[in-house]
Amino acid sequence: MDAVIYAGSHRKGGNSDHAAELLQEGIRRAGGNAAIHFVRDAHILPCIACGFCDKTKSVTHKKRCAIAHKDQAWELFEPIFTARTILFASPIYFYHLPSRLKTWIDRGQQFWQAHMDKEPWIAELPQRKAHAVLVAGQPSGEKLFEGARLTLKYFVQNFNMALDEPLALRGIDSVGDLIKRQDFESRIIQYAERVWNESH
Ligand SMILES: Cc1cc2nc3c(=O)[nH]c(=O)nc-3n(C[C@H](O)[C@H](O)[C@H](O)COP(=O)(O)O)c2cc1C
Repeated sequence: MDAVIYAGSHRKGGNSDHAAELLQEGIRRAGGNAAIHFVRDAHILPCIACGFCDKTKSVTHKKRCAIAHKDQAWELFEPIFTARTILFASPIYFYHLPSRLKTWIDRGQQFWQAHMDKEPWIAELPQRKAHAVLVAGQPSGEKLFEGARLTLKYFVQNFNMALDEPLALRGIDSVGDLIKRQDFESRIIQYAERVWNESH
């Protein structure tokens, strides 16, 4: 089992993409292996609240969402089931996660429903941890990371994961700002090394 990193920015080559690469490097240094998935590259339709996942009981998890066959949300969900741990690297947009990442997370309603129904394919997943590096342009704002943190916390709970305290980095705005901050780069690598070492 490997680690899976979800990169949430709509901006290719930006700060959180770099953070994702640093997480991957930290895991590699600790002896692990991590794949990065760029959520912006996936075609993701919004949850339409059709209620299908509420009404459906399924033995195979893929059949619980009415629009699963129409987009690539499932390709991103699938690695979570077997990953040793998952990590997010995302910017803050208007005090929250970028819309594509949030759209994908909303599609996780099917897992919340299956979890509530105690379906074994999800209820019996092993207890694991999830992690996040969040970057924001503003140097201040007491609750700058709170919306993103809570959404990630409740999303990963569906997969029997507990969200570790995110590494929240402020004052990182223009492309290249993170590369200029060696202290932040080191903290991300160390965070990932710890994540991997504590994940087994
Ligand atoms: C649509 C949008 C909304 C943003 N909202 C916030 C915000 O609420 N607070 C903040 O500190 N920075 C905000 N930012 C700045 C980004 O968090 C910052 O530029 C970050 O470094 C972008 O990461 P990236 O390079 O990985 O895309 C926003 C940026 C965009 C594009």
